Amino acid sequence: MAEATNIYPIYDKMMSRNDKEALLGQRGVMIWFTGLSGSGKSTVAMGVERELHKRGVLCRILDGDNIRSGINKNLGFSEEERKENIRRIAEVGKLFVDTGIVTLAAFISPTNESRAMAAEIIGEEDFKEVYISTPLKVCEQRDVKGLYARARKGEIKDFTGVSAPFEVPTSPALALDTSVLSLEESVNKVLELVLNNK
Ligand code: ADX
Repeated sequence: MAEATNIYPIYDKMMSRNDKEALLGQRGVMIWFTGLSGSGKSTVAMGVERELHKRGVLCRILDGDNIRSGINKNLGFSEEERKENIRRIAEVGKLFVDTGIVTLAAFISPTNESRAMAAEIIGEEDFKEVYISTPLKVCEQRDVKGLYARARKGEIKDFTGVSAPFEVPTSPALALDTSVLSLEESVNKVLELVLNNK
């Protein structure tokens, strides 16, 4: 009988995180932005990504645009659903971090409990919390998406800062108020955090 040709050797180990970090010449880390809607989380994350990319550092942003419209499109804004939102983001984020990628997550993540869960899933070592502390008043004045006005009219329920809580982080690696700092200043502070994480 002819020898089977459809047998492939199976290696019992995937390439490790170390192998991938060596390949990329960088360390994986999760930069976890937390703050109110309109506080500037995604804007700062995008600035950081752009600057790191220029320096040859591979990044991945996770935000509402790519997560709540895809993997989490079946989730709303009840306490339970927000928790599940964060749990999935942390699990997906961990895969990127384990690939050696600088991962930037920009979600309200309004409770200490949900942020602690994310840190636990990802691993405290790899988890850097950045609190975008822009005051509610400023976020509401900006009202980029018009959602605060709708929440005040009662058209959106459980809206963070209006009719749902936001718990201020107790010991973030960084706190940045984008109503005081320029975008460049905020971005530079996060860059320092990432680049010192060697
Ligand atoms: S989280 O609380 O589960 O972390 P996430 O960051 O994914 O929230 O989504 C927040 C974005 O969803 C807001 O910036 C806003 O555009 C939109 N949104 C819609 N409904 C709400 C709501 N009830 N509370 C907060 N944000 C909402």
